[in-house]
Amino acid sequence: MNVLVTGGCGFIGSNLVHYLRAQRPAQTVVTLDKLTYAGNLENLAALERDKRHIFVRGDVCDRVLVDRVIAENRIEAVLHLAAESHVDRSILGPGVFVQTNVLGTQVLLDACRAAKVQRFVMVSTDEVYGSLGPTGAFIEASPIQPSSPYAASKASADLITLAYGHTFGLDVVVTRCSNNFGRYQFPEKLIPLMIVNALHDKPLPVYGDGGNVRDWLHVEDHCEALLTVLERGRAGEVYNIGGGAERKNIDLVRGLLGLLGKSEELIRFVADRPGHDRRYAIDPSKIRAELGWKPAHTFEQGLAETVRWYVDHPAWWEHIHSGAYQQYYDTQYRVRLDAPAG
Ligand code: NAD
Ligand code: DAU
Repeated sequence: MNVLVTGGCGFIGSNLVHYLRAQRPAQTVVTLDKLTYAGNLENLAALERDKRHIFVRGDVCDRVLVDRVIAENRIEAVLHLAAESHVDRSILGPGVFVQTNVLGTQVLLDACRAAKVQRFVMVSTDEVYGSLGPTGAFIEASPIQPSSPYAASKASADLITLAYGHTFGLDVVVTRCSNNFGRYQFPEKLIPLMIVNALHDKPLPVYGDGGNVRDWLHVEDHCEALLTVLERGRAGEVYNIGGGAERKNIDLVRGLLGLLGKSEELIRFVADRPGHDRRYAIDPSKIRAELGWKPAHTFEQGLAETVRWYVDHPAWWEHIHSGAYQQYYDTQYRVRLDAPAG
């Protein structure tokens, strides 16, 4: 099967491309990626000489290009991950989130319909469900109540994908997963940001009271789930994917400092994210019962390995952590660090 992975130079996408090449060596993988600030071709450097991996730089909103990529490579299935993915950036500027996440998805769906692509997997998110109270977990039938512009753009893409299944008979499957962690995650997200700041002895900005809860999933477990859904998921269905590792942000940050041997005095409680969802928790019973998937990594082991990866690969993040990113970071955090929480 020839598979197109959109967003294959990002965090999850690049882990997925490596996973697909390792698990299904006879298949060709085509990566389509615009290489935004979050895309890094270095993540795929090990595949440079791999004849069964093809990289195309381009925008999923570009219908002519998407048609050409699908036709030239005889694409049979699409794993759609390309997106603007960071909640804080969607609060600073929602426009590009609507453009890429909503319109880009619709362009891909139209192209897949026209080319009679056999399967379209939409990588959505648990954020489409909004926020939970202290108990319970999201199931696939939970109401869609996104809070942030990012989450609303993903909910739109998720629903338009399901609509293409219902209306046009396109073979679509939607996955909604919880917070991923692992190698190649851009250091604007909680775990790599805290690791990189701690390594520089810079303050660790914890939003609000640090009591928000996220349900963590190792990126390789997510990749395995996506391959399972691609091959065996039922058309028109939604599958929640979760790691079963709920942690309060503050506990996670303290754990990271422990692993790095750094002082908790680096922690700063800062002004909260507007509209900050309090708690996410995924009930993955459906994918477990129907497709037999369950996570293989424990959170503690995965976190320790992730910390080690960032410590061992400063060249990967040092250039990211300066330049344009530093400007974003300063805009974002100067305000927060100047206006501490409470
Ligand atoms: P990321 O920001 O690390 O990577 C996104 C990739 O998409 C980048 O390589 C970027 O260059 C590319 N891209 C952006 N706009 C594009 C466009 N218009 N055309 C082509 N390529 C474009 O994101 P991630 O964390 O790897 O997330 C991947 C997907 O998984 C996203 O759809 C995200 O919503 C979803 N998701 C992520 C998480 C998580 O914890 N990271 C959890 C649930 C769902
Ligand atoms: O739940 C899935 C989602 O997880 C994905 O759909 C998103 O693409 C992905 O970015 C992630 O969203 P979050 O907003 O949960 O991730 P983030 O790493 O930005 O934040 C995790 C938690 O940590 C959240 O409660 C906010 C908090 N936080 C984050 C940053 C960057 C801090 O306290 N300080 C920070 O500096």
